[in-house]
Amino acid sequence: MSEEAKKPAANTMWGGRFSSSPSALMEAINASIGFDKRLASQDIQGSIAHSAMLAKQGIIAESDRDAIHAGLQRVLGEIEGGGFTFSTTLEDIHMNVESRLREITGDPAARLHTARSRNDQVAVDVRLWVRDAHDRTDEQLTSLLKALLDKAEPHAATVMPGFTHLQSAQPVTFGHHLMAYVEMFARDRSRIRDSRKRLNESPLGAGALAGTSFPIDRHMTAKALGFDGPTRNSLDSVSDRDSILEFLSAASICAMHLSRLAEEIIIWMSAPFGFVRLPDRWTTGSSMMPQKRNPDAAELVRGKTGRIVGSLVAVLTMMKGLPLTYSKDMQEDKEQLFDAADTIEIVLAAMTGMIQDLEPVPDRMAAVAGAGFSTATDLADWLVRSLNIPFRDAHHVTGRIVSEAEKRGTTLEDLPLEVMQAVEPRIHQGIYEVLGVENSVRSRMSFGGTSPVRVAEQIAWWRERV
Ligand code: ARG
Repeated sequence: MSEEAKKPAANTMWGGRFSSSPSALMEAINASIGFDKRLASQDIQGSIAHSAMLAKQGIIAESDRDAIHAGLQRVLGEIEGGGFTFSTTLEDIHMNVESRLREITGDPAARLHTARSRNDQVAVDVRLWVRDAHDRTDEQLTSLLKALLDKAEPHAATVMPGFTHLQSAQPVTFGHHLMAYVEMFARDRSRIRDSRKRLNESPLGAGALAGTSFPIDRHMTAKALGFDGPTRNSLDSVSDRDSILEFLSAASICAMHLSRLAEEIIIWMSAPFGFVRLPDRWTTGSSMMPQKRNPDAAELVRGKTGRIVGSLVAVLTMMKGLPLTYSKDMQEDKEQLFDAADTIEIVLAAMTGMIQDLEPVPDRMAAVAGAGFSTATDLADWLVRSLNIPFRDAHHVTGRIVSEAEKRGTTLEDLPLEVMQAVEPRIHQGIYEVLGVENSVRSRMSFGGTSPVRVAEQIAWWRERV
């Protein structure tokens, strides 16, 4: 090397053709090390697999591979021990690691980047990271499902009001209600598992975009990194971020489910409802109103949903205008991914804890389960079954009876027989059997219905699958 060539150019990693350093602002907008340092261990894993393959294929010497591996282990130790100095001038995690490797190992380090580009490097790093995020979410969803099953089981027959439009509709059981969330979170888990299968292909070896003239073995690196095989098209490999988008979509739908459950907990905890109690560890007080216990954790689960959906929208919007293949815009994927992954992790953990600690108050639920004439459908169904009245007419007759009860300020169960007979003379004493909420709930024996027998079946079905 001439003295001229050795002069510190713009960037020691790619600055060969540059005559000056980037401006401070260029460096500031360009650098990703502030956040992509979270890819350090994936980056090093990828480099170990890549260099092992280069040596096996005779592209680099085995001695170079050994020096690279020892050096990378040391770099990883420095990063994990907190002794590594990250440099903004070196832009990103890939160049920070490689530059430190060169300091440690000398010349062999300079052979590591043979047959590789940062484009396939970052693609493989992110795949490895998002694959772990899938596995963490899967595990957390499993814990949440277990917590819900444990809470639903003893309450398969606990009567509560069921709502549509948040108006009392028909009595249901608390166990049935919780099992609805088991369905939702189980779908979330299956979305995560489905996406994980699709993402498990290795983009490493796609090069900058077109592949490489070196005789690399992409199957070998794919296997070493736990992928099912290499991706098939090099152009797609460096420009695809679907694995992130699928994770963000699955996380967004899951967060929406968590938010709905959080909203219900907030409503149930409020004094007018009082359906559940949440121990102090999940609530906070008010600095002014001494009586307050606020459901902050549930509110934050609800509130943080916006961040996760926001990340999905940000990455979709970032990607939508990009021509093939890599563009620097794609560096913007990481902060969204990391933030959404951190957020879904904490909200899943908080919800699981809240469900475990939730104390239902069956007396309160039972007391209002019959409110709003919630057994009116049972009355109409009885008219159809016992008196053979067509349902449309039975609906009308029931409406008139409800209006009589409303006028008298009484429930259907307490309405005198003569009042009902004044509307429909054939009604007899047998009607009272269906007007109580317990009987109403027990009668909903259709598949998937709220009858405690059916709820117990749902719980047993899911126990086997969770
Ligand atoms: N930091 C970059 C990113 O996250 C790495 C890839 C850079 N590639 C390039 N050709 N400049 O996307």
